[in-house]
Amino acid sequence: MTHITVKVDGTTYEDKVEPRLLLVHYLRDRLGLTGTPVGCDTSNCGACTVDLDGTSVKSCSVLAVQADGGEVTTVQGLAPDGELTRLQRAFHEGHALQCGYCTPGMIMAARDLLRENPHPTAEEVRLGLEGNLCRCTGYQNIVRAVLAASEQEVTA
Ligand code: FES
Ligand code: FES
Repeated sequence: MTHITVKVDGTTYEDKVEPRLLLVHYLRDRLGLTGTPVGCDTSNCGACTVDLDGTSVKSCSVLAVQADGGEVTTVQGLAPDGELTRLQRAFHEGHALQCGYCTPGMIMAARDLLRENPHPTAEEVRLGLEGNLCRCTGYQNIVRAVLAASEQEVTA
């Protein structure tokens, strides 16, 4: 077992974990943060996307020990006081979601995209989200929502 210290959604955790434990399983099974789903477990779908030290990562392709000393933000950490971020509101208002599988990953990947490129084109949004799959092909509204959120500066 390996000792790790990791900050998740603003709370610092000290834990002993097996070196093979995936970050997504640590978040879900150890910390109970089930807002980050497992959609495929083969790094294809993007459902498990979280922010690790300022970059979005697929948490099924990262070991928990790799987050040692780091800071993780999950979709559950975006609105700690209950007030949705602009990006979350844009998804809600633009009907950019139909299920709880792809949406957390879409939000986290889009958040990273807008941080790097605050005013993307539709094409850039599609490219930025190409690692995230929506099985019901709701991409049109997802792209529209990200564009809607990008009209103003996005900080979260
Ligand atoms: S569960 Fe991680 S990419 Fe699908
Ligand atoms: S809305 Fe989640 S898979 Fe399509």
